[in-house]
Amino acid sequence: MREEKDLAVREFTRWSESYDRSILQWLLFGPSHRALIRRIREAVGDRPFRLLDIGCGTGVFAALVRRELPNAEVWGIDLVGGMLAKGRSRWREHAGRVLPVQGDSENLPFESGVFDVVTCANSFHHYPRQDRAVQEMARVLRPGGRLLLIDGYRDSAWGWMIYDVCVATVEGSVHHASAARFQELIAAAGLGPAIQTVHHNLAPFLLSEGVAGAGLPGPHFHRVRTPAARGGWASDRD
Ligand SMILES: C[S@@+](CC[C@H](N)C(=O)[O-])C[C@H]1O[C@@H](n2cnc3c(N)ncnc32)[C@H](O)[C@@H]1O
Repeated sequence: MREEKDLAVREFTRWSESYDRSILQWLLFGPSHRALIRRIREAVGDRPFRLLDIGCGTGVFAALVRRELPNAEVWGIDLVGGMLAKGRSRWREHAGRVLPVQGDSENLPFESGVFDVVTCANSFHHYPRQDRAVQEMARVLRPGGRLLLIDGYRDSAWGWMIYDVCVATVEGSVHHASAARFQELIAAAGLGPAIQTVHHNLAPFLLSEGVAGAGLPGPHFHRVRTPAARGGWASDRD
């Protein structure tokens, strides 16, 4: 497990230099981000909301959320300091409304029930304990909050070739979960049954959605430990 995370840290520290110029921005990341924006807009409307983006990288998606959905307060978390550092200008541009945090998807440094939306795009295949990561996503969602999880779709012959053969060869120890496995993970975390949409692009991807609890609206937010702009923690509203 530790080895897989060390590998991810090495890979993304190296990749951070050219990440924003990668062809994958056009091929996969951009389309997946636009799919997320559409779903969030449908789910949240024009209400203010708090979003956590897990595996946020250099903050491309976080900045897009701020541009497209100005009522969002966004936290981005990533394991790799080098990726967050490369997003410096984005964090600065949206300071106060977008907050980067360095941390691990399998152990989120947030209190329970504090986010309306949790997103995770193109990062999940790097998590050695995918069950634990989904449990953590569920934990930080408020009742009725929504998980939107995107990763490469590997259930078709083309998807299998891209993700299980090509990507796995380049990236090493990664695991693209099947649609059925996403269903299981999301249901086991109490967010199911998952709604799933396959996007059949050149680089096909799967969007799996879950909703936290059925339940009562409850207080909109509890107290939340909010990462302050320069590290450390500050109490937030409510
Ligand atoms: C391919 S990038 C995707 C970045 C962004 N979500 C996007 O769609 O452009 C994958 C990101 O996941 C991060 N990552 C890998 N393992 C992680 C973990 N255990 N916890 C949090 N982030 C992780 C990497 O550092 C990297 O920034």
